[in-house]
Amino acid sequence: MCGIVGYIGSDNASDIIIDGLKKLEYRGYDSAGIALQKNGQILVHKYKGRIANLEAAIEGKDLYSHCGIGHTRWATHGAPSDVNSHPHTNGDGSIAVVHNGIIENYTELKEWLIAEHGVEFRSETDTEVIAHLVGLYYDGDLMDAVYKAAEKMRGAYAIGAICNKEPDKMVAVRKDSPLVVGLGEGCNFIASDIPALLRYVRKIYLIENNETVVLTKDEVKIYNADRKEVHRDVFHVTWDADAAEKEGYDHFMIKEIHEQPKGLYETLHRRLLEDDSIKLDGITITKEEIENLDKVYIVACGTAYHAGLIGKFAIERFARIPVEVEVASEFRYREPLINEKSLFIAISQSGETSDTLAALREAKSKGARVLSVVNVVGSSVARESDDVFYTWAGPEIAVASTKAYTTQLMCMYLIALHMAKEKGVMSQEEYLGYIRDLKEIPEKLKKILRSEKAIHEMAKDLYKTEQVFFIGRGNDSAVSYEGSLKLKEISYINSFAIAAGELKHGTIALIEKDTLVISLAAQDHLFEKMLSNIQEVKARGAYVVGLAKEGNTEIEKQADRVIYIPECRDELTPLLSVVPLQLLAYYIAKLRGCDIDKPKNLAKSVTVE
Ligand code: AGP
Repeated sequence: MCGIVGYIGSDNASDIIIDGLKKLEYRGYDSAGIALQKNGQILVHKYKGRIANLEAAIEGKDLYSHCGIGHTRWATHGAPSDVNSHPHTNGDGSIAVVHNGIIENYTELKEWLIAEHGVEFRSETDTEVIAHLVGLYYDGDLMDAVYKAAEKMRGAYAIGAICNKEPDKMVAVRKDSPLVVGLGEGCNFIASDIPALLRYVRKIYLIENNETVVLTKDEVKIYNADRKEVHRDVFHVTWDADAAEKEGYDHFMIKEIHEQPKGLYETLHRRLLEDDSIKLDGITITKEEIENLDKVYIVACGTAYHAGLIGKFAIERFARIPVEVEVASEFRYREPLINEKSLFIAISQSGETSDTLAALREAKSKGARVLSVVNVVGSSVARESDDVFYTWAGPEIAVASTKAYTTQLMCMYLIALHMAKEKGVMSQEEYLGYIRDLKEIPEKLKKILRSEKAIHEMAKDLYKTEQVFFIGRGNDSAVSYEGSLKLKEISYINSFAIAAGELKHGTIALIEKDTLVISLAAQDHLFEKMLSNIQEVKARGAYVVGLAKEGNTEIEKQADRVIYIPECRDELTPLLSVVPLQLLAYYIAKLRGCDIDKPKNLAKSVTVE
């Protein structure tokens, strides 16, 4: 939910830290701050608002330092304000900490610190408790103090800490929030996520849960919960630094929409063998285990959940295995009947979504096998799964997920086809037929992207609307949910998705003259039904934008506007039909002057409940 960065080395820490924080603004951006070692003191500058506010505030100040920590925040405890911004310090300012996560027992700790130790708190945050705990336990060894503080805390945290009595050292610790270490020449880094470091280092340590890290400019040591030093292989990052930049697009979102053909190509072709069969790297579930599965659970949040809905259709249609799809925030608390004969599939772009991680742990505790579909390599969901199937979408920076969604769909299709083949319920010919069709998708998606201008023109006629309904049937109903979420989360229009056949059971009461209804009719076997649904809403005055496969021109008799997608099998149309909806949402939001990459109230990775 927040981003932390730390630097210790020979260069000027503040420039490097702020540059790194900018790469993490997608993790939260309601306030930002920095703490620097200088002349035996720790200087703290922190402000409400974007990192640009912080940058402007410290402009011209003499802050040259070789060691510091920084933070960009998404508020969980205490409204966005200067005093609630991180870093936080202990009473005498000798210790400064930055934190990503939630300390669940911070209230009792705060009361204890006030009652037993006379601590005076300045902020409303849980994080300030950490600073005072470390200060309380500090007795000349920052690592020891951090360990003792961590023993008192419950919840999720990635913490960076510095102390003015040890100016050449930094300590970090993680539990359930992401933390990576960057390994440089004469310098070392901590960060919540890799993009913050790409400009400086390519060698990374992925820090595991309950590990503590001690950094100097020349050395990094990792310790486990028992304070035993542990070895960690170096993870070599292959991403281009630019991959996390906009490359000339106006927003990360439109850049990432255009990256979908490449993401789909990478996600498929890295697994394609000479004979067009697929090798599912990272999946060790055996043929026998697949044959013995009694149910598959797909659990996720938001857009990833919508990908799970398509995954259900694919696995049930191809592999003939019952599938239950549920949002993680519900699954984790309902005592699900999952067991060792179940397969639990977690879908998560960030791999750090708190609800999804908790649902995964619930499933593991009940003996289920866990397979995760994740975009961020080495993320918590990935590391806690039995099998990991990566989407190769590259870093997704825009809060509104696009390329992660379509590559998640690709992964679900490949998993479903693999299971069908292992179970022997799909002929080799049918299997190869689907693979060949999937190979054609990137080019068909490029064709849709070439119609971007027409979508932009359509958006000019629609962007002033304040309410939109998305309807569809089968796969199209699942895509409707995703199209609706895309529109609402970046344009703030009140958008609503519903299975078209459900309209008559109440919702149609809301349809009146000029109500905008976006009707997906890309399933051949349901096309006539959808034409009837379009007639239903037209009869009540609706303005209908239809979406259909090329050639199904019958829809033009019913709909006011039509978007066509290239021909492909009904089962695979979600890979294509979602893209015009992404583009429509983007251009409507742009015409409404919205902050597309960082919508209000949202963060890219929701790492708290
Ligand atoms: C998608 O556009 C949203 N930003 C949000 O619903 C997101 O999909 C959800 O928070 C899940 O995130 P994850 O895939 O990283 O777990």
